[in-house]
Amino acid sequence: MRIAVVGATGAVGGLILDTLRRRGFGADEIVPFASARSAGKQLDGYGEIQPLTDETVKGFDLALFSAGGGTSREWAEKFVAGGATVVDNSSAWRMDPDVPLVVSEVNPGEAAAPRKGIIANPNCTTMVAMLPLKALHDRFGLTGMVATSYQAAGGAGQSGIDELAEQIPVVGADIERLVHDGAAAAATVKPSTFAKTLAFNVVPLLGSLGEQGYTDEELKLQNESRKILGLPALAVTPTCVRVPVMVGHAIAVRATFERDVDLEAARQALAEFPNLIVEDVPTPLESAGRDETFVGRIRADLSDPKALSFFVVGDNLLKGAALNTVQLAELAAQR
Ligand code: A2P
Repeated sequence: MRIAVVGATGAVGGLILDTLRRRGFGADEIVPFASARSAGKQLDGYGEIQPLTDETVKGFDLALFSAGGGTSREWAEKFVAGGATVVDNSSAWRMDPDVPLVVSEVNPGEAAAPRKGIIANPNCTTMVAMLPLKALHDRFGLTGMVATSYQAAGGAGQSGIDELAEQIPVVGADIERLVHDGAAAAATVKPSTFAKTLAFNVVPLLGSLGEQGYTDEELKLQNESRKILGLPALAVTPTCVRVPVMVGHAIAVRATFERDVDLEAARQALAEFPNLIVEDVPTPLESAGRDETFVGRIRADLSDPKALSFFVVGDNLLKGAALNTVQLAELAAQR
């Protein structure tokens, strides 16, 4: 079994390597790939970083991609032609009708026969919402959701983590200024990855704005949820917000169902779902570094017996990206 990890020097790529080792993935060889900038350098424990060329992509059984959509669009099919099954963590292939979009606990069967040889990993925010929604859908029949995300800086990769880390001491240096002149505090740094200064702030714009006033990130939450759950008419009202958290995405969800929701039955369905933990007050900080997804604040709706609200958090780099990628690789390897 030869495995390529494309984007091995990135925040998610590094965790894919760790997760393969941690879960004892039976690989004979793991080959790291990154951009031409990194090619030729040594990656501790994995040897020389390879560039993507027509020659280097041949002869793999699996290729795990986390190097952005452009790289996946250009190179995934070349790895497939060279013999590999590709698990892709970018948005490039997710909505292709011939590419299954899979969460390992939700629709694992769809990873069995990827027609194009590519299996797509969902967006990290969508992923966090999928476990509780699937648990509740199986019980009550999901019809819609209003979902507001609280997304960590790490969702934007290493550059997002670095930008927040650099901003915190600068923006936070003067508490009086933070309290009395927030605009001046925000102006002490220049945002680049994020739309506005993120430290000590909340930024309700993430991704690029489309025609209807929704961002691409918000439309992913709609379109990917529909595809994964097999519910093409699912009504989704998404709002994506960036918060000054390093790692750990959270989503406040109000979900609606075909049938009346019994609160105890809902709690039980959530508690029994694999890799989902019910907690009174789940927080992103406490989810960072954990494989499981955490759900809490489970409440019957005050006015609609067919609705339920909850708050769900998960590590966007692990379950949201690297862990699910490796779980999909395990499914592909079993096949
Ligand atoms: P590099 O480190 O050489 O730039 P992150 O999501 O943390 O920003 O990481 C992105 C990953 O994708 C890195 O490993 C990066 O490699 C890799 N990458 C970026 N652009 C390319 C490219 N054109 N070809 C291959 N790998 C790329």
